[in-house]
Amino acid sequence: MSRTSLARIHRSTPHNLQLLARRLRAGEIVAVPTETVYGLAGNAFDAAACAKIFRAKERPQTDPLIVHLHSIRQLPLVCRPNAIALKLARRFWPGPLTLILPKTAAVPDIVSAGKRSVAVRIPRHPVFRRLLKLTGVPLAAPSANPFGYISPTTALHVRDGLGRKIGHILDGGPAGVGLESTILDLRNPRRPRVLRPGAITAEELAAALGTPVAQPRARAGGARADRAQLAPGLLTRHYSPRTPVTLHKKLRGTDDRRHAYLFFCRPEQSEAKSNVFWLDEKGDLRRAAQRLFGTLRKIDAGKFEAIQAELAPGGGLAFAINDRLRRAAAR
Ligand code: TXA
Ligand code: MG
Repeated sequence: MSRTSLARIHRSTPHNLQLLARRLRAGEIVAVPTETVYGLAGNAFDAAACAKIFRAKERPQTDPLIVHLHSIRQLPLVCRPNAIALKLARRFWPGPLTLILPKTAAVPDIVSAGKRSVAVRIPRHPVFRRLLKLTGVPLAAPSANPFGYISPTTALHVRDGLGRKIGHILDGGPAGVGLESTILDLRNPRRPRVLRPGAITAEELAAALGTPVAQPRARAGGARADRAQLAPGLLTRHYSPRTPVTLHKKLRGTDDRRHAYLFFCRPEQSEAKSNVFWLDEKGDLRRAAQRLFGTLRKIDAGKFEAIQAELAPGGGLAFAINDRLRRAAAR
């Protein structure tokens, strides 16, 4: 499915939004900005449109998509929400939280990978929200990267990875959060479980609900095998640069010129070195999350033999950053 021309990057003018909404309603796919990462969107009720998403990404059809809504009023179209879901929706939407709920018959099997559940969220990015409103249908969208590679946080990242596979990219600037949404399994409302950590932490979810929220334990090898069935995208080597990554609690030394060194905050050293990188000058967690994927991409383009990366200190958002670093390091 290779094209001769490179995908067009559209500014978010009213005219372009109208044009892209029409394309989406006609069954085409469009890369869109969200506050987490860029997504590759298609009409969630149109199985043929969703099949194009899988083809462009070379994503296995066993890996389900997230359905994006404009308003909470659309929720009953795609799923059967429970009281817990409505409570969290009112508290965290629009925002980087995805809920897994029992699906309705209107959601095609290709979206849910044949499961009886569906992943839904209402995104916060104003440009994507305007497009969702204009399109008028729920939009299924995974991250807009070739399957297994690092998620895109700018329109140019999308074009680098999928430019020859898709026609349209809507530019909404760099993603503000920079990590994919928190995924919370609510199929059993009595036992909410985080399947993928993100900017909204298990602690915040537990505080909002007044009940415990289970969270995957950090593991060097990535996701546990028993979660493979539920969330296949969480099992495989994911978010991975081509350059092998080794993780460190604390990085010491930057002497091997063949290696890139990725610090959490700016290291104390006098001379500038082209193989030394950091996520944030002062180690601010939000800014570090925002810059993680872009920095990994930059390093990956740099022809290093290996990446020596430092884990983020502490819990909360550091947990989500470290989850992505561990996946990047998983072989
Ligand atoms: O922030 C995000 O979530 C971004 C933006 C575009 O919204 N989307 C995203 O999608 O990161 P992605 O490529 O990670 O794919 C969605 C993942 C699947 O890999 C799977 O792990 C999980 O969501 N998922 C989707 N439907 C599911 C279901 N019914 N049950 C369990 N997990 C599901
Ligand atoms: Mg993805």
